[in-house]
Amino acid sequence: MFVIEFILLFHKIGGENLKTILKNPLNHSETLDEACKFLTEGEVVAIPTETVYGLSANALNAQAVEKIFIAKGRPSDNPLIVHISSLSMMDELISNFPPSAEALIDEFWPGPLTIILPKSDIIPQIVSAGLDTIGIRFPEHEVARRLIEKCGFPLAAPSANTSGQPSSTTAMHVFSDMAGKIPMIVDGGDCLVGIESTVIDLTCDIPCILRPGGISFEEIREILPNVIIDDALMMQSDCTPRSPGMKYRHYAPIAPLKIVQGNTDNILQYIFKNSDDKTGIMCFNEYENCFNTGVIYPYGGEQNSVEQARKLFDALRYFDDKDVNKIYAFCPNSDGIGLAVMNRLLKAAGFNVIEV
Ligand code: TXA
Ligand code: MG
Repeated sequence: MFVIEFILLFHKIGGENLKTILKNPLNHSETLDEACKFLTEGEVVAIPTETVYGLSANALNAQAVEKIFIAKGRPSDNPLIVHISSLSMMDELISNFPPSAEALIDEFWPGPLTIILPKSDIIPQIVSAGLDTIGIRFPEHEVARRLIEKCGFPLAAPSANTSGQPSSTTAMHVFSDMAGKIPMIVDGGDCLVGIESTVIDLTCDIPCILRPGGISFEEIREILPNVIIDDALMMQSDCTPRSPGMKYRHYAPIAPLKIVQGNTDNILQYIFKNSDDKTGIMCFNEYENCFNTGVIYPYGGEQNSVEQARKLFDALRYFDDKDVNKIYAFCPNSDGIGLAVMNRLLKAAGFNVIEV
């Protein structure tokens, strides 16, 4: 893996030179101080989390948060998640704390779970996109936690990608989308989970998963047996998902992507028949050597949804750098974290699934 520890980039935007610093706190002990200084001054800094990289700013500073929307090109009706580094930090952010939240927090925080709760007035409207609720997340990644703690304020952060692009799971992904647009990227290595947090809404009578993610439906059901999944998520339908972000076209690589579903022999036959050297193939590791044409990206073991989640966004970005004119993906198993993998792939493919 190509690693750059320290880069200074000068880029012209609107006549101004914006310098983007990329630093790893393991090799540069002053990195967190520097990031904290930018954040305190109302700037945007990209930070690692265990799910994906985040584009962060002081959640209590509306002008700072506005810069996130500009850097990402994000629609203003899409609310941001607020990241905390201790439970006490959450108290002033919310106006009600249901018992169901306590049970989930005990089990899954810190970790890849975002909980939607009624918000307090301290949160600027721009963060919640005018909603009266707020998504709160306590990340597990040590760099994120130490940075939030150092700042002493919560960080609003969406995924650190240009709107509509696959999320970023390495500092280099962030760099390719954000260089010249933000002053600093903190490199905390490759993200271990690789797919965004699960978003669960606890503001209604029945807890509802608005976005599948790093904590599986099955795990949450162990704690909240009545949990449901927003049914607009896994199909292309006219009903609007309750998580505003899920309605946008997202994660799509440049070349059209099709998911191939069926038994393995049929999938292989279909791809053999329809591929040439300009075809991208996202296969399971077991079948990497079965192809003698095409651009291959093995995105995890057939039964290993955790590995598939970790590699998914890198795979989608990989084909953008290759000269492919179509991509086929082996259909993942939707159990556990596989539900999140399938959800992101479906969106990346525009719900284009071929049954074989
Ligand atoms: O893992 C993650 O969640 C990453 C890291 C950086 O923490 N963040 C992330 O943020 O994925 P973003 O903005 O890319 O996705 C947040 C999703 C969007 O679909 C948004 O619409 C939804 O959560 N969301 C945020 N606040 C919400 C709210 N109050 N009600 C409903 N949906 C909300
Ligand atoms: Mg995102």
